[in-house]
Amino acid sequence: MNIDDVKNICVVGAGNMGHQISLHCAIKGFNTVCTDISEDQLKKAESFVDSYLPGRVKKGKMTEDEAKAARSRIRFTSDLKDAAKDSDYVIEAAIEVLALKRKVFADLDKIAPPHAILATNSSAIVSSRIADVTNRKDKVLNLHFFNPALVMKLVEVVQGPHVSDETTKISMDLCRRLDKVSVHVKKEVKGFLLNRILLRIFEEAEWMLEMDVASVEDIDKACVFGAGHPMGPFTLMDLTGLDLAYTMGLESFRETGDPAQLPKPHLVEHFVKGEFGQKTGKGWYDYTKK
Ligand code: 3HC
Repeated sequence: MNIDDVKNICVVGAGNMGHQISLHCAIKGFNTVCTDISEDQLKKAESFVDSYLPGRVKKGKMTEDEAKAARSRIRFTSDLKDAAKDSDYVIEAAIEVLALKRKVFADLDKIAPPHAILATNSSAIVSSRIADVTNRKDKVLNLHFFNPALVMKLVEVVQGPHVSDETTKISMDLCRRLDKVSVHVKKEVKGFLLNRILLRIFEEAEWMLEMDVASVEDIDKACVFGAGHPMGPFTLMDLTGLDLAYTMGLESFRETGDPAQLPKPHLVEHFVKGEFGQKTGKGWYDYTKK
């Protein structure tokens, strides 16, 4: 198999990452099916597509024909079987719960054609913790996009010990066809490349907040105006989701037993109130007032 055999992509999960990954695949010429167990999430994803594409045309970033063609290449369904049965490449972008991902991959292994590559967009869970539920371990890897997936160029291609060179090459080639910049992560290290760095920044930012060294706003300002970051760590967490930060902290604690990995009190406070960031209107900042 090579990249020319990849025509149909299935994206599992229509949330923060999944809806943009699937739209990006469709824009770049792949027949794409986006699936989610939540009809509500699928409706939101579809209405995003229906406002985003005309917006690109209006902005002069896309012709009307290109937008129409992209729209015709993407569809939405809550039926995983229907979504994955003809796929050549699957990108799972469901929530960060290991047991759930293992169940999804076990199902995908039964549904997707034997040649199909099964990738996870997980932010933290390495594919070797998932691959053993399939009969195609060599075709199961991490393909990690960044938020917002339509914009951020980087994709990490993580080659765990079970992943074949062919799967890695096709995945790197796929990134090129998606007009992304891929990096080959040769070992399954925790956090891969960029999250490993970003999480250190988030952690320090949160500790400074916990110790009342400075406010959310001032810590963000320091990173933007002193280090040239496009947005500060708290604004970035609001974009990627406080639910994700919380779940990642818990998973990390389960994995290492290190209490320092547990979500910090302010983060827990937002999480229990359902304040997950931009998507709920409130997180570290209040977006309902803007
Ligand atoms: N969805 C889609 N497109 C978006 C967008 C969104 N949420 N936000 C901005 N854009 C697009 C705009 O449409 C615009 O596109 P155009 O230039 O082609 O018309 C372009 O991005 C620039 O937008 P703006 O001028 O409105 O805003 P900024 O210049 O401030 O850029 C940003 C917004 C691209 C989000 C920028 O602030 C940025 O790069 N922030 C850092 C993002 C980042 O670090 N992401 C990684 C997060 S970590 C992660 O995802 C890992 C995961 O495992 C958690």
